[in-house]
Amino acid sequence: MTSQTGNRLKHSAAKRRPQTNRAEPQKLNAVSLPWPADWAQIFGAERPLILEIGFGTGVFLRHLAQQHPESNIIGLEISNQCLLKAENMIAREGFNNLRVIHSRAETALHHLFEPTTLSQVVINFPDPWFKRDHVHRRLMQRDTLNAIVSRMRPGAMLYLATDILAYAEMAGELLNTTPGLTNTLPSTWANTLPDRVITKYEAKARSEGRDCMYFAYQRNHQPAPDVPIIGEIAMPHIVFQSPLSQDEIRVGFAPFDAHEGDIYVGFGEVYRGRSGLLFEIHAAEPTIDQHAALLLTPHGQGQNEYTIQLSTIGHPRPTQGIHLAVNALHQWIAGLSENTTVIQRKLAE
Ligand SMILES: C[S@@+](CC[C@H](N)C(=O)[O-])C[C@H]1O[C@@H](n2cnc3c(N)ncnc32)[C@H](O)[C@@H]1O
Repeated sequence: MTSQTGNRLKHSAAKRRPQTNRAEPQKLNAVSLPWPADWAQIFGAERPLILEIGFGTGVFLRHLAQQHPESNIIGLEISNQCLLKAENMIAREGFNNLRVIHSRAETALHHLFEPTTLSQVVINFPDPWFKRDHVHRRLMQRDTLNAIVSRMRPGAMLYLATDILAYAEMAGELLNTTPGLTNTLPSTWANTLPDRVITKYEAKARSEGRDCMYFAYQRNHQPAPDVPIIGEIAMPHIVFQSPLSQDEIRVGFAPFDAHEGDIYVGFGEVYRGRSGLLFEIHAAEPTIDQHAALLLTPHGQGQNEYTIQLSTIGHPRPTQGIHLAVNALHQWIAGLSENTTVIQRKLAE
């Protein structure tokens, strides 16, 4: 082989080599991050935090990252397509101060962010949820706004934009009756804001002839609503003895619901697995919604002794709702036979 051929081969091999010099950043979601999240560790630097909720195509998010190199920018989305697009944009442009997280705003605000940590919050064109049955899904409602205010530092800004007059009126009323916020505009909202980057929804609204309404509120020195962070809780489990066999429990089982305050748990089907029984559950809590499974397995060498614990299917997080589910399943099985005794339990009160 001539040295020329050798060089050509080396060159083409280098070209074919995948561009993996930079490590792919890990995809982030609110269920797998620590509660609270360690932002300095995630970004590799401690900087002020700016949050955009529901960033859609990511136009505004990109603008925030460019305009604020001194800050760490976090975008929240529930749409996988929007997340993928934003992750590609971050990799393409090499931003080291921008990360996106798969999370409902309500989950991130309550579990990931500690009080007084955000220096800016942006909500552009939130879904309006017009129907009466869907009003509880609106971002702009008292509980979520209280969580936002509690996470803002004194002096932090909250920007909101909408093209729906009824939503603007509702949001204006809510914002004006929030003691922790001060309006920085001469009226409740403005119809233009200088130097604003136009988002996809904004462009659509304008092209269809709708006015946009912009809000700009600042966190003042009034005390914030008390919205403590909901941190880690232990894995629940219960060990019990029952005269019933696994098959008798499975055959006797029927789907049921359990409630405690504003936590709801729905049980679906039961399946026989290799190591025991799997019970499908849906745990709906005000700050987090999880589809998961509970596992009932034989315990130790004991006669008809069982453990109920959280299965790893779907990577769920132990929460109050999951503890409620473990307890409810045990109660349900105890209802099938009087002679059920608890041997050991680790459950939140
Ligand atoms: C009407 S779009 C606006 C998108 C973008 N901000 C814009 O102005 O073009 C609303 C966005 O919020 C996201 N979203 C809706 N509810 C959310 C929630 N609870 N938490 C986070 N994002 C949410 C939706 O997936 C959607 O991308």
